[in-house]
Amino acid sequence: MADTLTITDNRTGKQYEIPVTDDTIRAADLRQIKVDPDDFGMMSYDPAFLNTASCRSAITFIDGDKGILRYRGYPIEQLAEHGTFIEIAYLLIYGDLPISTELAEWKDELSQHVMLHENIKKFMEGFRYDAHPMGIFLSTVGALSTFYPQAKDIDDPVSRRLQTIRLIAKAPSIAAYAYRHSAGKPYVYPDSELSYTGNFLNQLYKRTEPVYRPDPVLERALDVLFILHADHEQNCSTSAMRNIGSSNADPYSSLAGAAAALYGPLHGGANEAVLRMLTKIGTADQVPAFVESVKNGKGRLMGFGHRVYKSYDPRAKVIKATANQVFEVTGRNPLLDVALELERIALEDEYFVSRKLYPNVDFYSGLIYQAMGFDPSMFPVLFAIGRTAGWIAQWEELLGDEARKIARPRQVYVGELIRDYVTMGDR
Ligand code: ACO
Repeated sequence: MADTLTITDNRTGKQYEIPVTDDTIRAADLRQIKVDPDDFGMMSYDPAFLNTASCRSAITFIDGDKGILRYRGYPIEQLAEHGTFIEIAYLLIYGDLPISTELAEWKDELSQHVMLHENIKKFMEGFRYDAHPMGIFLSTVGALSTFYPQAKDIDDPVSRRLQTIRLIAKAPSIAAYAYRHSAGKPYVYPDSELSYTGNFLNQLYKRTEPVYRPDPVLERALDVLFILHADHEQNCSTSAMRNIGSSNADPYSSLAGAAAALYGPLHGGANEAVLRMLTKIGTADQVPAFVESVKNGKGRLMGFGHRVYKSYDPRAKVIKATANQVFEVTGRNPLLDVALELERIALEDEYFVSRKLYPNVDFYSGLIYQAMGFDPSMFPVLFAIGRTAGWIAQWEELLGDEARKIARPRQVYVGELIRDYVTMGDR
């Protein structure tokens, strides 16, 4: 017998058998529940999509209660230990780890597309010297659609692959130039001898030396951070990518929208907010007073809590280990003591324990970024570089989904039903 859910409508006494697949019912099946034939039918109401699956996906698996995260079935801990970011980007987008020839080709294609069109550089120069790099990043990604109009041909797999490569290759160049612009420094051209992440560091930090050589520990740490941020199933920005993509928009426009969603302090802006919070707290002895103020409703403990994880975020564990390696090179970030004390107190406090609020990926990432010399305003941009791979993977999956239609939620209308227009003098 097929799995069904029996619903009895007490308004009419009728019973309905709703099919159950993958532990879900289709919201559209509720439409048959009507009081009379003219009814629109029953809808589900789910603000912020707390309990609504918007798609079927084979990319990322999360078990929030057990603290499990896997990309294409591979545990994040193994990918962070053994993989490189570009290899994981390939895995996310194409479904399997690349064999050596595929990886070599992928690497080569990426390095051929790292450069930005000179006009893009000029476009970026138009931003004010103190423009937030994330604002520069998302605007510039959107502007790329005007440079590559063939990207509109989203049904052509050859074009899609080209735009995919361009986006992954150019994201760090845009990020680096956004940073150099705010620092008043000239743009650095890529060095194809370096790795993807090594070259990003070159484009960020090269001065007058003829050849820039990144510190291998920092290069690896940043690569791991890109892997950890690469995908996280249907989060706010990924849902934005899919929503925009569902109207058949080109990938640059969709990705600009996803980056805009990421910018918010409740999402990718959280690591910047964590660092500002730790700086404001200042010293470990100020932590108890700060925790009390959070419990009294004065703001949130940034870097804590997650919509999906109700246990320790597995990415936060990897990041904590990475932080120690980075601090051996850069020296210990003094804010680490504040963070450790905050974590210790919060994990013992009934308020956080009862709400299952644990450190998330961004609690420690900002400390590493700061130790590596990044300004907090660059933190969400670094997140966006890693997440670009996931956004594209999800967009590709969307385009291949037989159930794809333009995203268009319903609403429960609660306003005035009808009113006659009142002329100005009579209001
Ligand atoms: N500090 C203090 N209290 C919190 C926090 C926090 N960081 N997060 C949640 N709570 C409390 C809420 O006040 C609420 O309490 P109540 O039941 O007494 O009203 C309860 O915990 C549930 O919170 P919600 O807001 O309903 O949880 P939701 O799943 O909607 O929010 C979110 C998840 C946005 C991540 C939230 O935990 C938060 O704001 N965290 C801080 C920002 C942050 O770190 N964001 C990064 C997330 S990871 C990422 O995007 C990469």
